Amino acid sequence: MVGLDIGSKTIKIVELEKTRDAYKLKASGIIGYKSNTPEHLADDKELAVLSDVIRKLHKEAKIVGREVVASIPETQVYTRMIRLPMLTDSEISSAIKWEAEQYIPFPVEEAVIDYQIIDRKENATPPQVYVLLIAAPKVLVNRYVKLIQMSKLDLVAVETELMAISRSICPVDQTVLVADFGARSTNIAIVKNSALMMSRSIPTAGDALTRAVAQGLGIEAQQAEEYKKTYGLTEQNLDGKIKSILYPILRMVSDEIKKAVHYFQSEAGSEQPKSIILTGGSAGMPEVASIMTELLGIEVLIGNPFTKVQIDSVIVKQLANFLPYYSVSVGLAMRV
Ligand SMILES: Nc1ncnc2c1ncn2[C@@H]1O[C@H](COP(=O)(O)OP(=O)(O)OP(=O)(O)O)[C@@H](O)[C@H]1O
Ligand SMILES: [Mg+2]
Repeated sequence: MVGLDIGSKTIKIVELEKTRDAYKLKASGIIGYKSNTPEHLADDKELAVLSDVIRKLHKEAKIVGREVVASIPETQVYTRMIRLPMLTDSEISSAIKWEAEQYIPFPVEEAVIDYQIIDRKENATPPQVYVLLIAAPKVLVNRYVKLIQMSKLDLVAVETELMAISRSICPVDQTVLVADFGARSTNIAIVKNSALMMSRSIPTAGDALTRAVAQGLGIEAQQAEEYKKTYGLTEQNLDGKIKSILYPILRMVSDEIKKAVHYFQSEAGSEQPKSIILTGGSAGMPEVASIMTELLGIEVLIGNPFTKVQIDSVIVKQLANFLPYYSVSVGLAMRV
């Protein structure tokens, strides 16, 4: 299966082969592109440009399969844990649309609705089923269908970025918080035993970091991007200037992560996540994990999305510097 993650700055593709009890990496690739508007998919011309980029990536990465699972951006999706009385699976399936009505900010007729049964609490009073509700605007999903068609590929399924990540990067026997620190947004999820429990998206990530460095030093974006990637949060950095510009933004992202943890503990009465897994391109920033560990007081690790995947040793070396990019696409390709 092929996973396709169309980010705001880069597109990632991964092809996996499922053997009896494992996955094997067949091919992978990343390509950068310039999206002109945040809503680049709404414009037909942009769609044509984007589909050319996808075709090029598919070819250059030497992907063989044409059936893809694609992600839709977390920023455009509503996810929410809801509690229903002890219904059967088929009763839930018919109840969900009516339930969704009260939770999503647009009419259900205009939404694509999905759900996952997370837990059946038989012993609670009254007994309850926890269901994760996922809704995306139909118009948006239709744009993705069109984009994939124009890319000459077959769309098998779409899912949210964090659903994919919870499959690839999260341990099967722990509660963790995962943060996808990308370009435009940081997507945060709490994942218990590989099941998504809660998610949210904040509009602050790599783009904001670059912008802050450019403004703070009065330099071009391209130069700022270089400085950010080279110095990050290290102590050696143009007289401390880079770190002092980046640090407040990191603190803001950390505060949002703290809020998510508190919400999860109070709402679901659940335990604190054991660790925080950081992924996405911005997770490659020097010293980001140590600074966030300091800010959060919980261990922050950079995730490896390939731990459940067999890879040839030559490829392992080639991929070493790109691991944080692949957590969404690997998870998409793992979907059966
Ligand atoms: N070594 C590095 N240090 C700091 N930032 C980095 C580094 N490498 C990549 N980045 C940043 O990572 C971001 C791109 O990451 P990624 O490909 O995960 O984003 P995306 O998926 O396109 O965005 P989004 O998911 O937010 O739409 C860019 O902002 C880039 O500056
Ligand atoms: Mg992304």
